[in-house]
Amino acid sequence: MNPDNFPDRQYTYVYHSPGIEPWICGLLKDRVVENVLDVGCGVGSWGFLIKNYISPDANIIGVDLSAEKLERLKKFKIYNELIPADITTLKLDSKFDVILAIEVLHNLSNDVAVFLSYVEMHLAKKGLIVVSGPSNPHLMRALRKRNYEVYDYQLRGLVLTNTATGKTKVMWRESKFLRIFGMLLRFVRFFGAKDPKYVLAFKESV
Ligand SMILES: C[S@@+](CC[C@H](N)C(=O)[O-])C[C@H]1O[C@@H](n2cnc3c(N)ncnc32)[C@H](O)[C@@H]1O
Repeated sequence: MNPDNFPDRQYTYVYHSPGIEPWICGLLKDRVVENVLDVGCGVGSWGFLIKNYISPDANIIGVDLSAEKLERLKKFKIYNELIPADITTLKLDSKFDVILAIEVLHNLSNDVAVFLSYVEMHLAKKGLIVVSGPSNPHLMRALRKRNYEVYDYQLRGLVLTNTATGKTKVMWRESKFLRIFGMLLRFVRFFGAKDPKYVLAFKESV
């Protein structure tokens, strides 16, 4: 056994953002999750989580630029439909209870605002759009302008800070250390609030 492989440091190159999953699952649980659109679905970790943990009967459509990733993903029969396409030119004709854009919008720069306004039109009533990934000024501007609830994702998801209110949420509420750390982050943020490096943002349609 090679001790250098423990932990597996390549994990995050394949299954992005370990630590974000429980937050997003918390947003999805107890909602209607029947029709899901996963933009930039990659190797399908979100489809897998949704089918196995949130909603086994969900109808999930995955879209990705990489036909090769989609080809690999097909074998697992997780997604009901896989579309090789650029999400910025995608034409949708259905409504979705949940739209996920996980680790995919940070490369779109100016197109992100256009993309969000288009895709939000395809949310069903009380549908939820969830965005997460590395942040940049274009993304932050678009999320704020479109009234998303935006969280700064810190310490690999152990602490989340609401960028509008500065309020922190900690992953393990029973951890006294994390609660104190959360308060400290809130204090630091109050004096030196900067745009986050990584965000989790979401918005519910009316
Ligand atoms: C970092 S991976 C994230 C995959 C998955 N959402 C996850 O969280 O595990 C980003 C994925 O977005 C896809 N992608 C990037 N730009 C895209 C675009 N304009 N349209 C569709 N897919 C895109 C890439 O091919 C890649 O599979």
